Formats: sequence, C-alpha cells, structure tokens
Amino acid sequence: MKKLTLFSLFLAAVVIILGAYTRLTDAGLGCPDWPGCYGNLTVPLSEEKVAQANAAYPERPVEAFKAWNEMIHRYFAGTLGLCVLAIAIIAVRQRHKGTPVKLPLLLLGLIIFQAALGMWTVTLNLLPVVVMGHLLGGFSVLSCLFILYLRLRHTADDAPENRDASFPHATHDSVIGDSPQSMGFQRNLKRFAFIGLGVLVTQIALGGWTSANYAALACTEMPVCESGWQERIDIAGAFSVPDADNYEFGAHDYGERVTMHIVHRFGAVVTFLYLLALGVSVLISRHVSQKQKYVGAFMLLALCTQVALGLSNIVFMLPLAVAVLHNAVAAVLLLSLLNLIFTVFLALENGPVTHTEKQRGFTITSDKSLHSASAYKTYEKPLHDPIHDPFTGSASSHILPKAPGGFHG
Ligand code: HEM
Repeated sequence: MKKLTLFSLFLAAVVIILGAYTRLTDAGLGCPDWPGCYGNLTVPLSEEKVAQANAAYPERPVEAFKAWNEMIHRYFAGTLGLCVLAIAIIAVRQRHKGTPVKLPLLLLGLIIFQAALGMWTVTLNLLPVVVMGHLLGGFSVLSCLFILYLRLRHTADDAPENRDASFPHATHDSVIGDSPQSMGFQRNLKRFAFIGLGVLVTQIALGGWTSANYAALACTEMPVCESGWQERIDIAGAFSVPDADNYEFGAHDYGERVTMHIVHRFGAVVTFLYLLALGVSVLISRHVSQKQKYVGAFMLLALCTQVALGLSNIVFMLPLAVAVLHNAVAAVLLLSLLNLIFTVFLALENGPVTHTEKQRGFTITSDKSLHSASAYKTYEKPLHDPIHDPFTGSASSHILPKAPGGFHG
C-alpha cells in the first residue's frame, strides 16, 4: 500500500500539472462533453468523426490539440481515481492490522467529488467557482495522499526490523530534547504552522480565482498595478460571479479583475512574510530536530521560488512554462508545510523520549538530550522480548507505532 500511495502521489502531481496546462492553454472546453470527447472515448480524428462532432457541437468545432490536452488530463485523472479506489479497498481489508482507514476513505470521497467538479467545469462552461474548486480539490487530493504516505512510511520506519538494535532511535525522525522548553516550542510551532496553512491555502485559492477569471495580466506594473488602481478597486464585484452563458476568457469587468489580481499580490506579501517567519524560527531554534530544520529550509526554498515565479508571471507576461511552474511550486510549498506539521506531530507524540521509549519496551539510564549520539548509547536492551502487539493482542516481533494524533486515519 505504501508503494501504491507513493505512485498515486506522483500521479496526482502529474494530474495537477496537466490540469494547469489544460487551463492555461485555454483547453478547458477542448471537449465540450463529459466524460467522453464529442461522444467518443478518444479525440475524433477521422474526417467522418470530425464532421459528426462539428455537426453535434456547431458552437465548438473540434480543435485536436485542445481536445487531446483535455483527454490526456482525463485519462491520467481516471487512472488516479482507480489507484485511490484500490488504496481504499486495501485499507479497509487491512484495517485489523492497524492500517489507516479514514484517510483512504476521505480520499475516495474527495476523488469522486473531484470527478464531479471536472464534469461541472465542462458542463457549466468554466464557471469560476467550479474551476477554482477543482484546483483546490486537486491540491486536497495531493495533500491527503502525501499525509497518508508520511504515515505509512513512519509506520514502516518504526517497525523493529527497520531499527538499528544498537541505535534504537535511529529511524526516529522526531528526535528533540525532552525538556519542557522543547515541548513548549513544538506546541507553539504547531499553532504557528497551522495558521500558516490557513494563510497558504487562502493564497492558493486567491491565485486560483485570479487564474479562473483570466485576471493574470490585469496589472502589468510593479509594485501594485497601473496608476489609478485605487479608484478601480471593487471587492464585492471581484468576489462575486456575474451572470454569463460562458466564462471562457472571463466575465468580470476590468476593475473587478484588477481587484482580484491586487488581492492576490497583497496575499503574496502576507504569505511570504508569515512563512518566512515560520521557516526562520525553525532554522534558528535549538528545540527542533535536524530533520525539522531540513524541512523548514526546503519550505523556505519553495517559498522564494514561488514568489520569484509569481513576479516572472507579470514581468514576462505569463509565459506558459512559468505559469505552469507557479502552479506546481504552490503544490510543493503546500506539501513542505504539511511535512513540517507532520514532524511537529511526531515530536509532540514521541518527543518526551523517556516516556515513549518506556512504552516501547526500552529503558533509559540517562535522560540527557537526544541531540548527541552518546545519548542514544545510554539505552539498554528491551525490557521484554518479544514485544506485545496491541493490535493483534499477541506477542509479536512487529509493533506498529502510534500515529501522530491529528493525522489519525
Ligand atoms: C506564496 C506566494 C504565492 C502562492 C502560494 C501563489 C499561488 C498561486 C496559485 C495556486 C495560482 C493559480 C495557478 C493556476 O491556476 O494554475 C496563482 C496564480 C497567479 N499568481 Fe500566484 N502565488 C503566490 C505569489 C505570487 C506573486 C508574488 C505574484 C506576483 C506578484 C503572483 C502572481 C500570480 C498570477 C499573475 C497568477 C495568475 C496566473 C494564471 O492565470 O495562470 N503570485 N498563484
């Protein structure tokens, strides 16, 4: 299941990139029906089929390039749907072994909803709320797959056969001091990071709104917009949906597009400053593990790349590659923040080492900080062997670690 989850994670990333490419090449309506394309399983290619398709949809004659864009995205998304279904089935069948079940079932629900949003994107002619919802749904599927993968990997890493007997905590990625200060820092970090998650998701939604309403080039000047932007601001108009038959190329007026674009820019400043503060506080703290420092540094790298790509969108007038990358790096940034939050949960669950290790059957002769290798060597042999497996109720050599509380599935 771990490998399938990893595969699905990559597939979800590909689907998101293909989705962005489809949207940015204005191919969202490349096939005007759903789930087929002009009533076919593939793009109509023969003269006869193209003539039939054009007769059935005279307002949208076949454009093979756009239709292929759309269909390739659908094939990949369909394969991802089947993978998620397989994960859910495996999870339910293996639930007695302690495999997470709620998260795979949530994923299945999400992917079904995503398919519905994909259908409404087409049938409601690119209604912006649906397009933005589809983008957020894709990011949610990716995030859930990532959390599931982290949980499964953590479970596997913590299995006794993967732990070095002479170095019992070697695979433990939550190694921090167990002082009250360290635990207090991790608790504050958890709060700080969750607010950051809210800020980032809002910024992603604002970006999706800007893109879904074709407002990317509403402002081409720095730092805010073309002169006179203050008079054009219309918040209510920018965040409402005008009546239209078709939303392709946007239905909002210029002032409304300027407003949504500017709000995304201001959102970028807030997101940047907030995540910068979060990342730097992780990097300079003595109360985090080395792993958390790496994750924090990676998040900062993704953040700076994302801002640079956003600026390039404007300076270079939305080149396709930059716009697609701006979408992809937003996903990377989100995953890196989730990874940081996951490490905090692990640290809070397992940080007080004396307590956790006693539970696991190890005893400790010193309560020194675990930052140094010498501290590891103060561990003695397991108190009892084999370990009692709480899931099967039997004595077993395989024990599943406790999953971090907020990520239970
Ligand atoms: C942390 C910062 C940022 C995040 C998380 C973010 C996220 C996003 C997302 C998710 C989209 C939607 C992409 C799509 O639909 O394919 C987007 C679009 C956009 N963003 Fe950002 N963005 C950030 C910073 C910036 C900055 C600094 C700028 C420029 C000053 C910018 C300019 C744009 C523009 C012009 C679009 C519309 C592009 C399009 O139509 O495809 N972004 N952003």
